[in-house]
Amino acid sequence: MSTTRVHVDLGPRSYDILVGSDLLANAGGQIGEWLQARLGGSNADAACVITDRNVAPLAAKVLDSLRQHGWKAREITIEPGEPSKRLEVISSAYDQLVDMQADRRTVVIAVGGGVVGDAAGFVAATFARGIPFVQVPTTLLADVDSSVGGKVGINHPKAKNLIGAFHQPLGVLIDTSALETLPDREYRAGLAEVVKYGVILDAEFFDFLEREQAALNERDPAALLHAISHSCRLKADVVEQDEYERTGLRAVLNYGHTFGHAFEALTGYGELLHGEGVSIGMVYASKLAERMGRVDNELTQRQVNLLTALHLPVALPSPANLTIESVLDRMRLDKKTIGGKLRFVLPTRMGHVELVSNVDESLVREVLRDGGLS
Ligand SMILES: NC(=O)c1ccc[n+]([C@@H]2O[C@H](COP(=O)([O-])OP(=O)(O)OC[C@H]3O[C@@H](n4cnc5c(N)ncnc54)[C@H](O)[C@@H]3O)[C@@H](O)[C@H]2O)c1
Ligand SMILES: [Zn+2]
Repeated sequence: MSTTRVHVDLGPRSYDILVGSDLLANAGGQIGEWLQARLGGSNADAACVITDRNVAPLAAKVLDSLRQHGWKAREITIEPGEPSKRLEVISSAYDQLVDMQADRRTVVIAVGGGVVGDAAGFVAATFARGIPFVQVPTTLLADVDSSVGGKVGINHPKAKNLIGAFHQPLGVLIDTSALETLPDREYRAGLAEVVKYGVILDAEFFDFLEREQAALNERDPAALLHAISHSCRLKADVVEQDEYERTGLRAVLNYGHTFGHAFEALTGYGELLHGEGVSIGMVYASKLAERMGRVDNELTQRQVNLLTALHLPVALPSPANLTIESVLDRMRLDKKTIGGKLRFVLPTRMGHVELVSNVDESLVREVLRDGGLS
């Protein structure tokens, strides 16, 4: 099957995202081309592959290819899971880089999901004030979201993703065959972000997802190739216009996230995966838009139908754990709240959203009450 190229145009930080079904086998060759194009000189140097235990077989393919292409390659395996986004893990990666006498031609390569990508990217952004970085995402969420846009970082014990940087990669290699071993729930959680792109930016893409829902459920390679590459294109369009999150445009990517983050946090992290929280959150945001007279019920219903067909939750699992007040309190803590006023990304029609400030709290209460909360 062919390889699709998504070009992210960021001036001197421009790069390509390649999406295909057999890219890992030539990872060493491709990364060498990218290194040479960026820095001149030879097309192989030293590489530090950062991965987690669950993706070791995929990292092994990347390492094999690197060595075949003359790279000196070292591997760092971190523990799977969100707790790895912490300073001790970063610090021990710095030790390894010092030990291998890494310099500005040493490429850090993240092979894994968003956790590995964010942590490895943060290492690359900060070591020697920034060294080359390549993403090889292995979850659907990382394919369509965390590997695009250059945000890297780790968690503070009191706040997720608080410590970070913008560090664009030299390139991103998305091998769709990596998803073969991804657990079903993780796969579906990634689909929620794919659906999000349709709702916020592209009505025709939403139509495509509706049409191809059976193929997507079967992880059909052709359907996945388009779903992933088009999602990357849509996110890249936003990032190109607002690389450093200054104009507010990048905020549209947070559709469903104000509700979603609150639900994720209040049900206890782990009960809902991020994408599952976003799935439910999009439905609530759409219902809020309905209450405000911005859209009709059909728009919400189309999202409910597609998300349900993709086996994603559209209602809270156990509303008894949550109260209207606890959700509102949590939303006030969210970054999207300014001066205590609630802000939401809300649809105006399929394929278009707006950032709406000063949303009347009583409407949010009504939507939560309709959802079974008290
Ligand atoms: N930088 C950004 O712009 C951005 C955007 C969205 C999310 N994120 C971050 O991404 C992280 C979530 O990423 P995620 O959802 O990919 O989670 P993850 O990296 O924790 O991966 C989920 C699980 O799947 C396993 N896994 C990964 N690939 C696999 C494969 N191919 N086969 C089998 N198992 C595999 C992992 O080991 C892990 O246990 C969060 O920390 C979030 O903050 C960052
Ligand atoms: Zn998200």
